[in-house]
Amino acid sequence: MSTQKKLVIGLFGFGVVGEGLYLALNNAIYLDASIKKVCIKDADKQRNAPARLFTTNPDELLDDPEINVIVEVINDTAAAKAIALKAIASGKQLVSASKKLIAENLQELIALHSHHNTSFLYESSVCASIPVIRNLEEYYNNDFLQHLSGIINGSTNFILHKVFEDNLEYADALRLAQDLGFAELDPALDVQGTDALHKLVILLAHAFGIVARPDEILVNGIRNINGYDVRYAKQHQSQIKLVAQAKPLQNGDIAALVLPTLVRNSSPLSFVKEEYNGILIRSSLADEQFFYGKGAGSFPTASAVLSDIAALSYGYKYEYHKLRQQLGNKLADDAILKVYVSHPHNVKLPLTDFRSIQTIHDDPERSYIIGEISYHYLLENDWWQSEHISLLLFEDGITEKKAPAHSQASYYTSHQTV
Ligand code: HSE
Repeated sequence: MSTQKKLVIGLFGFGVVGEGLYLALNNAIYLDASIKKVCIKDADKQRNAPARLFTTNPDELLDDPEINVIVEVINDTAAAKAIALKAIASGKQLVSASKKLIAENLQELIALHSHHNTSFLYESSVCASIPVIRNLEEYYNNDFLQHLSGIINGSTNFILHKVFEDNLEYADALRLAQDLGFAELDPALDVQGTDALHKLVILLAHAFGIVARPDEILVNGIRNINGYDVRYAKQHQSQIKLVAQAKPLQNGDIAALVLPTLVRNSSPLSFVKEEYNGILIRSSLADEQFFYGKGAGSFPTASAVLSDIAALSYGYKYEYHKLRQQLGNKLADDAILKVYVSHPHNVKLPLTDFRSIQTIHDDPERSYIIGEISYHYLLENDWWQSEHISLLLFEDGITEKKAPAHSQASYYTSHQTV
């Protein structure tokens, strides 16, 4: 006989994910769970569910003693935080898809739910349908992760695919990503790399036991990538993808970043198209593993939320093993990055700030250089993010080798710089 308690759900949000979850739950015949109330913002909007389910009063869910699970899939981070804090403090179990909320408040949320001994699960917040958090939590406790790299934002991957492979205009590709429910309410979060950054912050906690702040990590989005860069990539058997990475350096510190990256056609990441996500994990024992699946959209995201709800039915909690192991891991404050930087011919780059330069390609149409630059330098300077500059990382471009400054660099000191 089952001793499991019936899960009575209070759902916040009935957008792309909320409605997907509602439909998925109706079909989840092996799960003893049902939605009692759904809290929405706009009472007048037509919804595909019985009107009696809906309310605009959050307390109808949060103060209802019968509701033992709060599922939060809303876009408003401030409101999501208030819901999360109250739900946990009331001893309710919480499932959330809000990566921004989680990434910006991870320390506080972990402390709070540990204190109240409740379960707080958020598989859907990273790579939607790919169960990467659960794998990081459960599988690698005694293995050493050597590298994690992934395409973890579906919208930017979709846009890059549509613009550079299907020749769609950028604005049309973005609109399509919005229409299909992949993009954030504020799509700047996608295209500037912030959404991937939030997901990387979450992955860092489960993969390496680091609770980082988003502003500590180097990030750039896809806005400045242009046709010349794509042509360069194609000529070099590569593709451009927005890749998040976390890589332990020799001293144990973890270099973490989100940057547009030249991914070789032979890399598993190059197979990740449209709104799909993919994560490559390299570890001492398992060697290389590749996780692939849909990273955005109604049902793929709902599948992860549903899986979290199912996990609550058998009392599952994140143990944060890597945090508890007190590995002493911390973010690296520097690393050497091998980059390609393209720029208009008449704009000169501050080449003396590169640690070494491998190639200088001068072309009246568009020029580029390939060289090594310091992670810390990029974090502290922003010329490389201006709209006429495009910086791409090479796929294996994170190193810690201290390269001597290249002699060519001094030649360029007299040129005008950006
Ligand atoms: N905007 C996000 C993405 C949704 O495109 O990946 C899924 O987290």
